[in-house]
Order: sequence, then C-alpha cells, then structure tokens
Amino acid sequence: MDVGFIQFSPVFAETSSNLQTIKNMLNNRRVPDILVLPELALTGYTFADYKEAYSLSEEIGGTLTEELIKIAREYRTAMAVGFLERDEKKLYNSSILLSGEGVIGVYRKVHLFYKEKEMFEPGDGGFPVFEIDGVIVGLLVCFDWIFPEAMRTLALKGADIVLHSANLVLPYYQDAARTRAIENRIFIVLANRTGVEERAGMRNEFTGGSEIVAPGGEIICKVGSTQEGLFSVSIDPERSRNKKATEMNDLFKDRREDQYEDRNYRKSR
Ligand code: ACM
Repeated sequence: MDVGFIQFSPVFAETSSNLQTIKNMLNNRRVPDILVLPELALTGYTFADYKEAYSLSEEIGGTLTEELIKIAREYRTAMAVGFLERDEKKLYNSSILLSGEGVIGVYRKVHLFYKEKEMFEPGDGGFPVFEIDGVIVGLLVCFDWIFPEAMRTLALKGADIVLHSANLVLPYYQDAARTRAIENRIFIVLANRTGVEERAGMRNEFTGGSEIVAPGGEIICKVGSTQEGLFSVSIDPERSRNKKATEMNDLFKDRREDQYEDRNYRKSR
C-alpha cells in the first residue's frame, strides 16, 4: 500500500484556489492509496475571530465535501483533509476522511491550541478508527500530538496508521513523532503546512517538515520546511500489528494499567 501527504501553503480564505492547488499537485501523478492533507487545508488557519471562522466554515456533506469526494474518485484514493466544520452555531477543527464513494468518517480535534479555544469547540467524539481496504486508520489534528494519550488511544483501538493533519508552529513534533511511532509501534503520516500567515495582529510561521514514520521510528519519507508538493512511500501496514520491542516485551501486553492511575494527583496540588 502507498501512503503519502501533500505539503503546501494554503492561501487564507481562498478555498477555491486551495482546492485548485491540491488538484494541480495530483495532476499526472501516481497518487497513493491513502493521502493526508494539512490541518484546515482549504481555509487557512489564522482567523481573526469566531465570526470570520464561521463565515469560512461548512457543514460536512456540503459543496466542499463533494469537491473533495470528486478528487478522491478521480484519483482512486482515500483522503484525510483538515476541515473547518460547522455544526449549527458550533465550529470544529476537524479532519474528514473520505473516498470516491463518500465520507468515511470525521474526527473533531480534541486538544485545541492557543487561540483556537476562542473559536472552536473541543472535539466531542473521542478518537474513532476507520477501515480502508482492511487497514485500520485513525485521525489526529496537530496539537493532539503533545498528549500521548491521543495516539495511544488510537493504537489500543487497533489503528495501523495515524493520519495526522497539522499546522505546526512549535518545532518539536517532527522529532517527537518518532517517539510516538516507537512507543505505539505504529505508522504515522504527518502532513504539515508551510508558509506564514500574518493578519489580524497575529503572525503564524508554519514549520513544514512533513514526514512518514514507521513503527520502529524510522523516517521513511521526509521533506524540508518550505518544500511543497505530493510525496509518498510504499509501506506494509501489517508491521504495526507486531507490538514487540524485544522477544520478551510486547508493548501492549506489558502495560501495567493498574499501576498508572495516581488517585492522589489532584489532592497533592
Ligand atoms: C496547532 O495545533 N495547529 C498548533
């Protein structure tokens, strides 16, 4: 199976032009079976406030979803795309997973970063997993990475590959992803964005460096901080089903759940 990502710099509020950029990057290319796009890939990231974010949001199943499904159908791929989701008056920083046949599932970012808290609701659907051709995938969005429980939950639910859409501004995850992959024996496809957004008194510089990491922590595909385009690699997803770190250590069977909970944690603070 081939997995890949698109790294690019979405133009703020230019949804149609961002869709066109994605189409141009796929045109005449061999497109992987599973493709990951960055967080908020169609709208950009630096919203002035809730009102502006609302004006750029769309419900799942709307025109933008249909456009994405058309792309997935044309290239016979499954795509995880960072998406500004509207649900009545609520906004979610979501990742939508779809194929040419329709929407497979949606994940709403659980751990909101910085000013996202002023416009989005934190995700309320936990960490679902989905099946694509016998392979189990889970979705994460950006800052979820710093909470190891997020990827652990997906791994314990049987995810073989984590499709991680990001707009990283801190410099850590491109290194930390190796640890997440090793501790969960899981594949990670990290699609980060490039570029700078300077607006509404804010400045966000995105760190690129998208990568694909294998269960042993090997980085098997890696791009630079400003590079743009479609990148992919062939993997054997079955590798993630072996949780052994040594002949005597199965990282899941060796977990000591009874020892982890510190009932005095809150009291001692
Ligand atoms: C982030 O969560 N977009 C940093």
